[in-house]
Amino acid sequence: MNLIDEIKTNARQLNKKIVLPEGEAERTLRAADQIIKEKIAQILLVGNTETIINTAKELGLTNLSQAEIIDPANNKYKTEMIDLLLEVRKEKGLTYNEAFALSMQPLYIGPLLIKLGYADGEVSGAEHPTGDVLRPAFQIIKTAPGSSVVSGAFIMILKDATYAKEGLLVFADCAVNPDPTDVQLAEIAISSAETAKKIAGIDPRVAMLSFSTHGSAKHPMVDKVVSATKIVKETRPEIAIEGEIQSDAAIVEAIGQKKAPGSKIAGHANVLVFPDLNSGNIGYKLVQRLAGAEAVGPVLQGMAAPINDLSRGCSVDDIVNLVAITANQAK
Ligand code: ACO
Repeated sequence: MNLIDEIKTNARQLNKKIVLPEGEAERTLRAADQIIKEKIAQILLVGNTETIINTAKELGLTNLSQAEIIDPANNKYKTEMIDLLLEVRKEKGLTYNEAFALSMQPLYIGPLLIKLGYADGEVSGAEHPTGDVLRPAFQIIKTAPGSSVVSGAFIMILKDATYAKEGLLVFADCAVNPDPTDVQLAEIAISSAETAKKIAGIDPRVAMLSFSTHGSAKHPMVDKVVSATKIVKETRPEIAIEGEIQSDAAIVEAIGQKKAPGSKIAGHANVLVFPDLNSGNIGYKLVQRLAGAEAVGPVLQGMAAPINDLSRGCSVDDIVNLVAITANQAK
């Protein structure tokens, strides 16, 4: 069974409730129909009831009658949502009128439903930029206990296993933090190791990427990666980690042994932690396009409940897969 099939099989057993705030959009509706048909998760669609029913009819989607619809204009949870917003944004001075308006916005309704216990996770972003999806999640769901930073990992499914024994690599952060501090980078490495284990099902070997290997170059950008590696080693000694290390030394055995002799991880890394968002986002897109790898994600890590953001160029299958991953994270 391939990784996606395994993730879907697990999701079926978990039977979680996933909210799709972009419930009026055609791709979302097609994905929801497939998810219900394949019994991957229970679905909550946010959107105008009439629009959803009519679009489903036009598209010939027969399974959507099993989805629950939350209509922003006629929402039975509205009072609870306003109270919750006033509570979580008290220190930010949110007024009743502002909370009232936010309680009608689909991208706020999703996280609110999760926080109130009516849904287990959310997938959105097919119609909205990343920041618009993440901001409500940060404000309402917040970070998981012990986490201070949310980051985005991609599971890269490679065409062959030349550079990764399992044919899988986890890349992070490719989606959220433009310029993480050393402490944040250490946390991203720890979360990515957990994602590798829990979602990709691989034993993590983490490489903290840089343009330097073990002091071959001197620069403040290198110092940040060295410091982040030290923090992980001190706080989570059980995590197999190497850094700072160049990407070729991380994944090519002969180069790894030359540049980092004696390292058990050099040449065998399967979790690649990038020093900033420029390198992470550019790096995953290049591997996806040039090597024809399947990029699954971004899987958001470090959030108190699973919320995942789609690329606006996503396909119906991408939505289905990310819902299955979200259900797995919700366990
Ligand atoms: N983890 C946890 N909380 C965070 C994080 C984070 N990484 N970033 C911001 N927050 C919290 C803040 O603490 C703040 O909380 P508060 O309102 O309770 O004080 C809230 O979120 C808003 O923070 P701001 O810094 O004001 O948020 P801003 O909107 O400026 O930035 C954002 C957050 C949107 C994530 C920004 O960092 C961003 O745009 N990142 C890049 C996203 C992107 O474009 N990625 C590339 C495309 S994705 C792709 O290609 C797959």
